[in-house]
Amino acid sequence: MFVRNAWYIAAWSDEVVERPLGRRILGEPVVLFRDSAGAIAVLQDRCCHRGAPLSLGDVVPRGIQCGYHGLVFDSAGQCVLVPGDHKVPPGARVRAYPAVEQDAFVWVWMGDPEHADRSILTQYPYHNDSRNWPHQHQTLHLRSGYLLVLDNLMDLSHLGYVHKGTVGGDATTHVEAKMRTVRTPNGVRFERWMLDSVPPPTYVKAVGFKGKVDRWQEIEFVAPNAVIQWNGAIGAGTGVLRDWKYDSAREDCFSMRLFHGITPETENSTFYFWSSANGYNQNDPSATTQLFEEIARTFEQDKVVLEAQQQRLLELPDGPLVEIHGDAARIHARRAIDRLIAKESGAMRYEHRASEDQTAPLKPGE
Ligand code: FES
Ligand SMILES: [Fe+2]
Repeated sequence: MFVRNAWYIAAWSDEVVERPLGRRILGEPVVLFRDSAGAIAVLQDRCCHRGAPLSLGDVVPRGIQCGYHGLVFDSAGQCVLVPGDHKVPPGARVRAYPAVEQDAFVWVWMGDPEHADRSILTQYPYHNDSRNWPHQHQTLHLRSGYLLVLDNLMDLSHLGYVHKGTVGGDATTHVEAKMRTVRTPNGVRFERWMLDSVPPPTYVKAVGFKGKVDRWQEIEFVAPNAVIQWNGAIGAGTGVLRDWKYDSAREDCFSMRLFHGITPETENSTFYFWSSANGYNQNDPSATTQLFEEIARTFEQDKVVLEAQQQRLLELPDGPLVEIHGDAARIHARRAIDRLIAKESGAMRYEHRASEDQTAPLKPGE
């Protein structure tokens, strides 16, 4: 089941160029293209003549032209040309979806267009700040349902097992990480602290740490589909973390931002739009590329686990699954989605339980 009344990432802006781009989102086939002024349009990928996918056609000055018999549709889905006919038959139109381009993404609203509210778009200004946060990005297709992808991001204790050789490092460090989890109005936010710990290989490669570090991770889930992450490390014992600040000018400081956009393709497959931004050596493009390659390798490791996990759960759906201490943020995230689905269906009013909040403050070093 999906939350429909929400903005979903349909593509990176730079994926939509001269050719139409066909993609399935929340189970629905859509086609993305740009009009002659460069504005983005998203239509149902089904011609209203004989049902051919419009994504097999071409972008033309008046819109998108079906590749079968040449009907042309404008950005609003209205048929504006039937080759050889003087007039367009009444009702010749296809569904158009509200779409917005922001922060290097194309966002699409898959629900009731009346509720498409631009003010609730998730903001990610770092994509527009290449001086301080140069970034690279990728679209990864996962044969895994979106909830499993979200679970993966909400429980970072997997880093020490799945990503030992990149961003993870020592497994015990992750298991023993100090954590604070706080429910937010539209999701959950958690912080992890690994003080006086051995830096993971990606961090060492980036800034050449020689000794132990104080390491942090801040993760926010904005339901139903965005995870915003800030990670870093600084030489151990500097005390900088005590004020929850860091100093990027220091040589022994590593910091990166990750954006994870989770868009269901079907119940069991997902488009994963992610970016990595370099916050430690911004003037060196090779540092940004090296970080991107490290993270790409990391997410390929997740892909292997997630796809195998999805297969196994489809094969054996009924066996028990238990919860452990690392599941707190994951449970909050799932509940945030449940609340949105419940609200959307109007079937029930979500009852908040006080036990869902774990807001006890945690001081660094505790
Ligand atoms: S199916 Fe599109 S023009 Fe005929
Ligand atoms: Fe991972």
